[in-house]
Amino acid sequence: MNKISIKHLNKLKKNNIGICSATSYDASFAKFLEDSGVDIILIGDSLGEVVQGNKDTHSVTMENMIYHTMNVARGSKKCFLVADMPKDSYITKGQALRNAKKLIGKNMADMVKLEISKEDIKTVEYLIKNDIPICAHLGIKPQKLSSKKKYKKIGKTIKENNTLINESRLIEKMGCELLILECVHHETANKITSCLSIPVIGIGSGNKCDGQIRVLYDLLGISFNGVPKFFKEHIKSPITNTLKDYVLKTKAMKKCK
Ligand code: KIV
Repeated sequence: MNKISIKHLNKLKKNNIGICSATSYDASFAKFLEDSGVDIILIGDSLGEVVQGNKDTHSVTMENMIYHTMNVARGSKKCFLVADMPKDSYITKGQALRNAKKLIGKNMADMVKLEISKEDIKTVEYLIKNDIPICAHLGIKPQKLSSKKKYKKIGKTIKENNTLINESRLIEKMGCELLILECVHHETANKITSCLSIPVIGIGSGNKCDGQIRVLYDLLGISFNGVPKFFKEHIKSPITNTLKDYVLKTKAMKKCK
C-alpha cells in the first residue's frame, strides 16, 4: 500500500484519469474514503458548518484543525491529506508559517490549503520558500462570505474569467502544487484546467476539471445546514432509516421486571 503523492496526482492529470477527493474530519470516515479509492482527503474548515453546526466556516480555529487533522491521519495512511488553514490563521507571514508547520508532517497532513486573495500573495510565496506544500483555493472563498446564500458562480463575465485565469497562472508560477476551484463557471474552469500543469480540482465548477471534491456530509445527505445549490449528487441519507429502525425496535423491546 503506497501513500499517494503529489507526483502520483500529477500522473493522473497527465493520463486524464479523474482525481477523486472528499472531505473528512475523523478517522472512521477517513478509512471509508481510503477503502473506497479516494485519492485526496481534505480536512476542510467546512467542519465549522457540518460538524460544529455553525452557519459558516469562520469560527474554526487552528486547534480545531490540528485535532481533526490528527484524527483523519489516524484513519488514512494512504490518501493524500490536505488540511485547511482556517480564517485569520495566515494574516502575517510569520503566523502563517508557524501555523502551517503545525498541520504538516508525520501523522498530520501532506499539504495545506489557503483561500488566496491578492493580499495573501506575499504570504504564499514565503510559505513556499519555507518548503510548505500549498493547495490554492480560488473562486468562491467561504472565509470571505457570511452565508451559503451569497454563493454565486464566478467567471461568467469576461473580467472575472480573465482575473481567474491570471490568478491561476500566478499561483502555479509561485509554486502552488494543487488548485481547488469552487463555484467557477464551467468554461473558465475548463480553460484553467487545460492551461495549468498542476492538478485542478473542482466543486460546483463543471465536470471537466482534473478531479472533483465534495463535502462528505453533502455526499451522504447528512449536512446540518443543507447542501449548496450546485450539488447534484444529493441522496436521502440511509442513516435516517437505520436510526428509525433502531428506535422502533428498542421501543418494542420487553422490559425485564
Ligand atoms: O472546507 C471545505 O470543505 C472546502 C471544500 C468545499 C473545497 O474548502
